[in-house]
Amino acid sequence: MPRKTPRKKAPKSARTYRIAVIGGDGTGPEVVREGLKVLRAAADVSPFRYETRDFDFSGRRYLARGGDPAKPNIPVITDDEVAELRTFDAIYLGAVGDPAVAPGILEKGLLLRLRFELDQYINLRPVRLYPNVPCPLAGKKPEDIDFVVVRENTEGIYTGMGGVQYQGTPQEVSTQINCTTRFGVERCIRYAFDLCRRRNNPKHMLTLVHKTNVLTYAGGTWFRAFEEIGREYPDIKKDYNHVDACCMWFVKNPEYYDVIVTDNIFGDIITDLAAIIQGGLGVAAGGNLNPQGVSMYEPMGGSAPKYTGKNVINPVAAIAAVAMLLRNTGLQHGDVALVEAGDRVERAILATTPRMKSQAAGRMGHSTTEVGDLVAAAVRAV
Ligand code: IPM
Ligand code: MN
Repeated sequence: MPRKTPRKKAPKSARTYRIAVIGGDGTGPEVVREGLKVLRAAADVSPFRYETRDFDFSGRRYLARGGDPAKPNIPVITDDEVAELRTFDAIYLGAVGDPAVAPGILEKGLLLRLRFELDQYINLRPVRLYPNVPCPLAGKKPEDIDFVVVRENTEGIYTGMGGVQYQGTPQEVSTQINCTTRFGVERCIRYAFDLCRRRNNPKHMLTLVHKTNVLTYAGGTWFRAFEEIGREYPDIKKDYNHVDACCMWFVKNPEYYDVIVTDNIFGDIITDLAAIIQGGLGVAAGGNLNPQGVSMYEPMGGSAPKYTGKNVINPVAAIAAVAMLLRNTGLQHGDVALVEAGDRVERAILATTPRMKSQAAGRMGHSTTEVGDLVAAAVRAV
């Protein structure tokens, strides 16, 4: 598609944002390509500059290097590579996952490692039903499903504390510790209150989700922090749901929610439920944020090996991840041009989903590249 002349140029002094791109495995590179196409279109019409660098981190590379659970000396990514990623303004990830790699290796070796080492303490999951996207809940419309989940991303049962003893015997015993710190909880809750204020949704409500009736220790830390910090936000309504009840409400009354803040594992579970009510993995995007550091944005869909190379996978989630990247990087650097470019990409998605037959791979009525072209054209038009 021919590029139009840029409408607004970035001032000469403007910073060039450096984005690390990890296409990864399976359909990851295919959807990332469309996300980058849309990013290019956004930079053509908005005054910001960026450059990208590709990193070949993947299950495929790990296996090619002889990676094996029995050889822990072969890392998924090296210490030097982690150090290199720290120098970027943001990371854009497609998917890592290979059926031939044992479960846990790539998750721990890449995703969780970056979350912990780059201190990406927020997992941000906007949940929005785009127009014309089929929703499995009867009678729910786009205006009914529009909330954000703020998931704590560096603590809880994800820390790896605990262990296993007498493995493989009838006496086997394992512990998996739910590590909850006031520090970790507090920074997450503050982020959620600030986000709720910024969103300025008429509901103006932050819901804490936990299981305080059973997990009285960890739940207590969350609840006390929520109440105390909440006093600094008198304009925001405070609300609490048990996680099991929250699952019911997601299905029955998703329109109830504005912003949710929750612990790592509860957030993991409820955001998959949220993904399906917003139309599935083809549209759901997330961010692993260090609001003061290097954040990583990704579509939630995974590497989808059976669709790889067929040009049928939905790139909307990967494009929505670009919108998040632009907005959040813009916020971090106080760069209005970037925030507006993110809004523009979001509007372009809203203009494109009505032109798609469905959001399911192979049934969109368009190929992967065509959907990317549609959104890129919309970016220039909206
Ligand atoms: C997610 C994923 C990860 C998680 C896995 C792949 C480690 O499910 O981002 O939600 O559990 O956090
Ligand atoms: Mn998950």
